[in-house]
Amino acid sequence: MSILVTGGTGYIGSHTIVELLEAGFDVIVVDNLSNSSEDVIDRIEKITGKDLSFYNIDLLNKKALDLIFHENSIEAVIHFAGYKAVGESVQLPLKYYQNNIISTLNMCEVMEKYGVYNLIFSSSATVYGYPERLPLDETCSTSALNPYGRTKLMIEEILTDLSNSNRKWRIALLRYFNPVGAHNSGLIGEKPNGTPNNLMPYITQVASGKLEKLYVFGGDYPSKDGTGVRDYIHVVDLALGHLKALKKIDILSGIEAFNLGTGIGYSVLEVIETFEEASKVKIPYEIVSRRFGDTGICYANPVKANKHLNWYAERDLFEMCKSAWDWENTREFISI
Ligand code: WQD
Repeated sequence: MSILVTGGTGYIGSHTIVELLEAGFDVIVVDNLSNSSEDVIDRIEKITGKDLSFYNIDLLNKKALDLIFHENSIEAVIHFAGYKAVGESVQLPLKYYQNNIISTLNMCEVMEKYGVYNLIFSSSATVYGYPERLPLDETCSTSALNPYGRTKLMIEEILTDLSNSNRKWRIALLRYFNPVGAHNSGLIGEKPNGTPNNLMPYITQVASGKLEKLYVFGGDYPSKDGTGVRDYIHVVDLALGHLKALKKIDILSGIEAFNLGTGIGYSVLEVIETFEEASKVKIPYEIVSRRFGDTGICYANPVKANKHLNWYAERDLFEMCKSAWDWENTREFISI
């Protein structure tokens, strides 16, 4: 029996596959390579010494997806595939709805046809919108701040309706906070296209000299130093959260949401300070006005995942920064 991973050559997908393989699962990867490259498959195989089945198909191609289920014995699906750039989603909402929603509908229809009812969905803390209260727990109200976030929320609601229609479904909605860092092999990590939107890859590119300085979006939030606060989580801890959810999927009752965060919020200036300690590189920055659509402070209450998945984030901010910096220094030079 295999685990089918969609979007498996992406940042979080690739790290999750490493942990799945090392835990002894057989893995089938489906990816259209729209935001990643096939050499990630070789890198995963080099890290683990295990073989991977890879299908370069688009989930919008339902026939091709059906054939994968026809040819393989699949016990569960971890669904990462989807566009995830907030700014782009505002410019091109239809592209996001078409891709993220329709591909998920195709996936669920084919799963149902082949009697596969175990699904782990890559959701996001973005479904909480502007936090109702802090720390955020899974009972907090949800809303969308942009089309990307709305696709995540809509998919959660679609999967809830699906679960309510057929009790055979066992669905875990994993709400990621802010994934950062990289695998300690230096072979896989975050590969943003163009100038990074997210904080950590922007910082690593300032540190490597690719970018001149960091612009800190906002210095007047109600935080200890006025800069934005987020719950950064090491991507390997996040990957292990998927493994724990998979192991518990059989005892889930229908559909459950879980926060995957550390429960600790760090400000932008704290991240800069920790990164400088980890990299021994000074990060020049300038505090500018807030970024439109940003929330000020956001961090998780991870108790539900701790208790029900027996999952705990173990890597601290220093290790997140160090691994991100190590990856920045190797990613363009390493050959397989
Ligand atoms: C973190 C903090 C910024 C860049 C986004 C998506 C979210 C999720 C994670 C997918 C904030 C500040 C950032 C910069 C800065 N992705 N910042 N200068 O916005 O919390 O979440 O990524 O699920 O959906 O919205 O992450 O890394 O962009 O920002 O000051 O150049 O760093 O204001 O306080 P964010 P981020």
